[in-house]
Amino acid sequence: LSTAGGNLVAKASVLGFGQGTAKGGSPRARVAAYKVCWPPVSGDECFDADILAAFDVAIHDGVDVLSVSLGGDPTAFFNDSVAIGSFHAIKHGIVVVCSAGNSGPADGTVSNIAPWQITVGASTMDREFPSIVVLGNNMRYKGQSLSAKDLPDKKFYPLISAADTKAANASIENALLCQAGAIDPKKASGKILVCLRGQNARVDKGQQAALAGAVGMVLANNILSGNEIIADAHVLPASHINYTDGLAVFTYINSTKYPTAYITPVTTQIGTKPAPFMAAFSSKGPNTITPEILKPDITAPGVSVIAAYTEAQGPTNEDFDKRRVQFNCVSGTSMSCPHVSGIVGLLKTLYPNWSPAAIKSAIMTSATTWDNMKEPILNASTIKAGPFNYGAGHIQPNLAMDPGLVYDLAATDYLNFLCSLGYNETLISMFSEKPYKCPKRISLANFNYPSITVPNLVGSITVTRTVKNVGSPGSYRAQVQRPTGISVQVKPKKLKFKKVGEEKTFSVTLKVMKAHAVKEYVFGQLIWSDHVHYVSSPIVVKAV
Ligand SMILES: *[C@@H]1O[C@H](CO)[C@@H](O)[C@H](O)[C@H]1NC(C)=O
Ligand SMILES: *[C@@H]1O[C@H](CO)[C@@H](O)[C@H](O)[C@H]1NC(C)=O
Ligand SMILES: *[C@@H]1O[C@H](CO)[C@@H](O)[C@H](O)[C@H]1NC(C)=O
Ligand SMILES: *[C@@H]1O[C@H](CO)[C@@H](O)[C@H](O)[C@H]1NC(C)=O
Ligand SMILES: *[C@@H]1O[C@H](CO)[C@@H](O)[C@H](O)[C@H]1NC(C)=O
Ligand SMILES: *[C@@H]1O[C@H](CO)[C@@H](O)[C@H](O)[C@H]1NC(C)=O
Repeated sequence: LSTAGGNLVAKASVLGFGQGTAKGGSPRARVAAYKVCWPPVSGDECFDADILAAFDVAIHDGVDVLSVSLGGDPTAFFNDSVAIGSFHAIKHGIVVVCSAGNSGPADGTVSNIAPWQITVGASTMDREFPSIVVLGNNMRYKGQSLSAKDLPDKKFYPLISAADTKAANASIENALLCQAGAIDPKKASGKILVCLRGQNARVDKGQQAALAGAVGMVLANNILSGNEIIADAHVLPASHINYTDGLAVFTYINSTKYPTAYITPVTTQIGTKPAPFMAAFSSKGPNTITPEILKPDITAPGVSVIAAYTEAQGPTNEDFDKRRVQFNCVSGTSMSCPHVSGIVGLLKTLYPNWSPAAIKSAIMTSATTWDNMKEPILNASTIKAGPFNYGAGHIQPNLAMDPGLVYDLAATDYLNFLCSLGYNETLISMFSEKPYKCPKRISLANFNYPSITVPNLVGSITVTRTVKNVGSPGSYRAQVQRPTGISVQVKPKKLKFKKVGEEKTFSVTLKVMKAHAVKEYVFGQLIWSDHVHYVSSPIVVKAV
């Protein structure tokens, strides 16, 4: 909530790190919170009835934006209370921003896949909290941490793999993961413990190391988490290092009889490169329910985000943590979602009459797929990321203010979209809240979404889109980066707008090229430009 609408707070910091003035995207916004998650009842915490009741009350209260850091596994829209509630909200002109989920990096994990939701993935920002792991062989590995404690003395300590501290009754695997009860204090005491990421919470590993008398912890990524390192408020001096650096540390331990290490005190660094890159946890496309709609739509900062925090629990959110902080640093698409919500608040203030779809289009078409090294945005294993990671790209709020053109949609377009999926009148009434008759012919391909996705291209397809001029009069020309093995024809190639609000329709023909044998998703981009605006849409195609 503080990320979306927090007021200005001077000298905010997390345990002294990241000091500065904190504020939300829409500072001085009026905010309301609706509690839908409660202590679990047979494993369920957030009940559909509560979620729908919250949407109803928020709509009644006349909110402008709903920031919904909430979602279940992807499921059919009629079976998804967040999708149904979101639909009711957008019918009232309320923009609904949702988290993509933290189930990455596997494909097809993205949640909140309805086209009327703005679905947000998580990427890094250019701020880090480095803490260097220095080994006895003088090698240095840059990790991150928010440990408020430094090592008791500025000297090297014995370094040990947690696997080698295995308690007699525990498995090597559990010891290496620094699970509760798996570490033998006799072997760990006074040493820096190297724990592997996975299974138990990162901060719990630190707690287990501390309980076993370790003086510090090096938290090493497994191969899955790659290059994604997270600054946590560990209870002991600790540094979280990436996978390749972790391997080097384990290799060093194996190579010498008396391995030693030192962990430098945490500092706050800004302007770090490359940034942004995708978080490994950020849920990924393709959309498993309607593959014709690209999800996520956008990415925003979701790693090590500083925001106001409850003082009902400690910064690690674990019972053992008795510390209390006013600001904490947390990662997840629950953190990236409210960044977009705050920006939506500003756009709503500028353009109170824009539809939720127009605001979403402005945010998507102005996003970037480039990082601060002028290179394509990477994933957490330093491989080029793509639309299934970030949708249209990383959000650029200033450009979203002046998008030039928008791809607009009204509530009836979304109902027709449901018709195109074969929804009958009973199912549609859950969304429309009154009888709705589907038109005879509707094409899912021509649904006026700001991205173009064809999951099953046979031969060729022509899709149409309509753009509305929201800038000054001007002439736009189409530029295409075609997906590998697919030809792309845009007709017409030039769109001339004489006034604000004018709409123009164009078609895009995608055709499988002769020698194209790739039966995997390939990616391209369509950009309409008047040399001031670059109205970009991802093109996502799979030939079958
Ligand atoms: C509805 O969602 C639940 C999980 O929330 C799932 O178990 C069930 O199979 C889904 N039903 C349909 C018809 O999709
Ligand atoms: C891992 O971290 C080190 C910094 O210690 C950095 O040089 C390296 O590029 C990172 N990523 C990979 C994939 O090695
Ligand atoms: C091993 O035994 C100790 C001492 O009885 C106990 O605290 C710990 O939980 C046990 N660990 C496992 C993995 O069973
Ligand atoms: C270090 O040695 C352990 C135990 O022999 C082994 O399991 C591990 O793979 C080794 N690690 C590296 C990086 O060589
Ligand atoms: C990065 O992308 C490569 C290639 O698609 C993939 O193999 C790898 O698992 C991805 N890593 C992460 C952390 O997403
Ligand atoms: C509408 O579809 C649902 C789900 O497939 C089905 O249970 C219901 O019987 C259908 N209703 C009508 C009136 O066809």
